[in-house]
Amino acid sequence: MFGSLKGHREQDHTIVIEFERKNVLIEIIEPSIVHFFAPIATERRASKAVENLTVNPGVFSVDLQNSQLVIKTEKLLIHVFDEFVVDVFDTAGNRLCADYRGSARPFVRRGSGEGLEVAAEEGHKLEAEKHRLKIQALKKMEKDMFFYGLGDKTGHLNKRGYHYKMWNTDDPSPHVESFEAMYKSIPFFISLKEKQAFGIFFDNTYESVFDFGKENDDYYSFGAVDGNLDYYFIYGPSVKEVVGGYTRLTGTTPLPQLWTLGYQQCRWAYTPEQRLREIADTFREKEIPCDVLYLDIDYMDGYRVFTWDRKKFPDPEKTLKELKDQGYKVVTIIDPGVKKDKGYAICDEGLKNRYFAADKDGVPYINKVWPGDSLYPDFSNERVRKWWAGNQKIMTDTGVAGIWNDMNEPASFNGPLPDDVTFNNDGVLTDHREIHNVYGHYMSKATNEGIKNATGQRPFVITRACYAGTQKYATVWTGDNQSLWEHLRMSLPMLINLGLSGIAFCGTDVGGFGFDCTAELLSRWVQVGAFTPLFRNHSSIFTRDQEPWAFDEETEAINRKYIQLRYRLLPYLYDILHDEETTGLPMIRPLLMHYQDDPKTYEINDEFLCGENILVAPVVGQGERARMVYLPEGNRWVDFWTKGIVEGGQYIVRDAPLDVCPIYIKEGSILPLYPVQNFVGEKQIKQLTLEIYPPEKGRESNYVHYQDDGSSFDYRSGAYNLYRFSALRSEDGSIRIRLEKEHAGYKMAYESFKLVLHHMKPSRITANGELVAFEVFKNQATFKIADLADVRIEI
Ligand code: GLC
Repeated sequence: MFGSLKGHREQDHTIVIEFERKNVLIEIIEPSIVHFFAPIATERRASKAVENLTVNPGVFSVDLQNSQLVIKTEKLLIHVFDEFVVDVFDTAGNRLCADYRGSARPFVRRGSGEGLEVAAEEGHKLEAEKHRLKIQALKKMEKDMFFYGLGDKTGHLNKRGYHYKMWNTDDPSPHVESFEAMYKSIPFFISLKEKQAFGIFFDNTYESVFDFGKENDDYYSFGAVDGNLDYYFIYGPSVKEVVGGYTRLTGTTPLPQLWTLGYQQCRWAYTPEQRLREIADTFREKEIPCDVLYLDIDYMDGYRVFTWDRKKFPDPEKTLKELKDQGYKVVTIIDPGVKKDKGYAICDEGLKNRYFAADKDGVPYINKVWPGDSLYPDFSNERVRKWWAGNQKIMTDTGVAGIWNDMNEPASFNGPLPDDVTFNNDGVLTDHREIHNVYGHYMSKATNEGIKNATGQRPFVITRACYAGTQKYATVWTGDNQSLWEHLRMSLPMLINLGLSGIAFCGTDVGGFGFDCTAELLSRWVQVGAFTPLFRNHSSIFTRDQEPWAFDEETEAINRKYIQLRYRLLPYLYDILHDEETTGLPMIRPLLMHYQDDPKTYEINDEFLCGENILVAPVVGQGERARMVYLPEGNRWVDFWTKGIVEGGQYIVRDAPLDVCPIYIKEGSILPLYPVQNFVGEKQIKQLTLEIYPPEKGRESNYVHYQDDGSSFDYRSGAYNLYRFSALRSEDGSIRIRLEKEHAGYKMAYESFKLVLHHMKPSRITANGELVAFEVFKNQATFKIADLADVRIEI
């Protein structure tokens, strides 16, 4: 396609390479991030994921040597050959990623004629997907290569051996490993081999495919039905650095409001108003913390978005105000489909201003969703995004605290949208094939902007469909799972891979959406939910109740226990998301992210790290009352429940009665904790608790804690406090703990600190030289100090 290499020119950080038949671009974004672009469909590229890119190429050189171009950055060595064949090495010459020299050789599916017909008659789905790829890159597969990322795909953590498709899909049948496409399209993956990691972000919004050696073990590949060959190579060598690089390109999740980390209760549907209030009252009566209640589609008047059914909610403003007084924030669903209905303001306005996607003749396109015949706002048009953003005020003025964007793949009940439905694409007219995968992305962007403009607070948007970069605008959930043990199991790799794909704030429907939950399944699911960023219980219409009290006393007590634990952990979780705003590191992480030198972590599907300090090994099988836990090598671990110390680098068997989720704290951790509250803001937190798991002798551990008002953007102009806590353990076993402030900008600073010191029986404690009273219970010392201090603990 490209022909032989003819020459090159440099323009700032861009190298234009001239081939016989086509010029291509290589941009050095950073020493370890390189962008490859071959214009196939369009000369110009307009990424929908990468905005406001900062380019820091460092020093690099370009040389033509024996008819190959050699590009050297401070981190990478790139060889470019005829036909735009590219090999990438690290600076020591280790090959990281090389173009495969042969051509594609898909495996054979055997069987023909009558055999296929009778199998199809029985209901077997035998149609192999035909992808008609216009763009394809084949890369040489190496032994021991592991693959991660790709957003919310089903299956396991490591994607080697599988094939996936990026085409946002709403399929409510039970999600299983054989699903190639899901609700989200995040065309980004990470490869890990012999402790070296790199990522590839294929920035193409058309239907695209990824094959990690399913087709043939000699190569892995990515390709698309149209668009350009447009991808970024992001070098590690650590997975952390790859995720950091990817989120510098596509953005990180902005720090959310603190209450969004509280427990959230959803249901299709809490209507009428009386039912919603019943739910609200029950949480408070039973002292089960809850911050957020959801209204699903039934609150609307005939499913018309931005309206209320006045029979079910006669006075929504009053209802929402009273719920707010009880500490609740109400989030309402808003789907994209606008009911085709003359006299309905949103429809009339949209038609008048040509805000809807149109068929090839310019006639507004109609398909069916909940309201019946519906129109699809063209969110790829900035004017439409502004209009949609403005509409959010209708909801926020009523007291709505956040918006839930659903059905934005976009879903359609009357067959898929035809390819030729036209979209404005910010002035460069295109069709459905290019916009489909970014429809939800643009909808979230508009919703986010609207809430921000209307409230001035950090917006809370939750979306089902997304593309790379949507993390800047919304949190996501994994769509219509079911109350199945397999879906609880699968939620872990799905959420971990979402986190590795830049989506730091994500969750699954706790308890499962479709089908009927059981007491045991809910008990185990809430144990996972407590450690996932978005902690929302949701279930479908016509399924059995699934609130924390819906089963028996034991289940209710287990729900209370883990939801309360979540509220104690809030400052820790908030710290993770604060760090994430700059590092891009998610809350829920695979063990390999912090233990990349330990290959035993590479395929652990059923354990995860919540931040760096907490390892969660939940039970995800019915009837299981013990499980094997792998504790990674490199440090020791403290059993959260028994406080027993366990060496890393081994498999252990941990008892796990129904109310116990095995949790391990990394030795040396300093964990900030809040008291239990029924909702965020119920108590004014004047005292911070610090649980200290002392480091080994001779070691020091550090923890940085962040505090702000939890809701506004004032932190961006300095209205926050940053504390640094450190614990240094001497050879004689004594400990020096320092509580210092690195930044003082938020006026409601803590007035005191409660320290809980594990594995210590001190003889004397002083703070700034003054004696401090303390209590010892079992193997744990507790004491309070009035302010920041230099604390010495002698044994
Ligand atoms: C979709 C959503 C689900 C919601 C339902 C009704 O199935 O995924 O969460 O409850 O629509 O709005």
